[in-house]
Amino acid sequence: MLSGRRIVLGVTGGVAAYKAAYLARRLVEAGATVRCVMTEAAAEFLGGQTLAAITGDHPIEGFWDEADVSPHTDLGQWAEALVIAPATAATIAKLAVGLSDNVLLATALATEAPVVVAPAMHTEMWDNPATRRNIATLQNDGRIIVGPATGALAGGDSGRGRMAEPEEIVAELAAVLQGDLQGVRVLVTAGGTREAIDPVRYIGNHSSGKMGNAVALEALRRGAIVTLITSARPPVEGGIEVIEVESAQEMAEAAWERAPLVDIAIMAAAVADFRPKIVEGEKLRRSDGIPSIELEPTPDILGGVAASPDRPFLVGFAAETGSLDGALHKATTKGVDLLVANDVTKQDSGFATDTNEVTIYTPDGAAAHLPLLSKREVAAILWDRIRESRSQG
Ligand code: CTP
Repeated sequence: MLSGRRIVLGVTGGVAAYKAAYLARRLVEAGATVRCVMTEAAAEFLGGQTLAAITGDHPIEGFWDEADVSPHTDLGQWAEALVIAPATAATIAKLAVGLSDNVLLATALATEAPVVVAPAMHTEMWDNPATRRNIATLQNDGRIIVGPATGALAGGDSGRGRMAEPEEIVAELAAVLQGDLQGVRVLVTAGGTREAIDPVRYIGNHSSGKMGNAVALEALRRGAIVTLITSARPPVEGGIEVIEVESAQEMAEAAWERAPLVDIAIMAAAVADFRPKIVEGEKLRRSDGIPSIELEPTPDILGGVAASPDRPFLVGFAAETGSLDGALHKATTKGVDLLVANDVTKQDSGFATDTNEVTIYTPDGAAAHLPLLSKREVAAILWDRIRESRSQG
């Protein structure tokens, strides 16, 4: 995936700079052409000669010592991706406000290529409200943040703030550059719907929207135009059109309006199957005794999309408890192209976790079981499967 791709590696002044050499090596091994740019402080931690030996090109360290009159714009235009690893708190702050007082920052400002940032700093600095604000700004600007991880830090400390491992950064770059969904229109539903009982209460479920968010973000990384219809908290990253809904009815209306306009629809939402038939206009009072609430079915959103004449490539999800037999049945009867099933009672899997253990079914009932993975990894594998299925169909 990285073979022949042009990558600028920016190194800033943290102890993790030594890992930048290994990252450069991994990128070169993957077939990328790598040019490096270092800050003055980075040069205190890592010799430019090391990067030169690995990449075959001397890193750029200043505006004035180059034959090139405009190294930052040349590099910025040359780059297919800029990766800043490690990115110190200072560099992150400067990136957030668009400061360009060294070649690396100027390159970041001058490039239209995706920018991947791998922060590395002490936990206190990472947790500081200023850094939190700066990271949120970068994410809103469409910068991709990898890590940081938790582990050993400089000076014998440990905690969150350690630079992501080079392998993870390489995987991120591969996803960014893959662009296999360039211009493809994608619709994702996420979260658990809330069905009102009265103005203060609802029937709901434990879905956090994390799986749907991961699916939407991975599509965005690969170049898709993404609409997310969600009843949960959407991703902080910019670039996704978010439609916020509460009930199954609202989700159905939004999804049915959008579905004919997209190429692929992923229904990851945990939609309530039943809602109160009557929504009380005023709060139910304890003094009125135990209410009896009559339920009625909600619209079958996925069913409506599956039955539409111009239906997109359709992926359903199935939240099961215990056996996945129900999921197999859904895969073969619901008119989907793929079905992602999980047992939500399993530890670390399903609702509100950052990991998931899923089985992906095709309509002929064939199943591929994946191990426990991060939701991000599940999303990446799912998009790979979707690509394969669409190219066969
Ligand atoms: N779904 C939907 N509309 C509903 C209920 C579910 O579109 N009213 C979608 C979900 O987003 C998911 C798929 O249908 O993609 C399966 O949802 P799930 O709740 O697992 O299954 P159900 O069809 O509700 O079947 P059961 O209650 O028997 O598990």
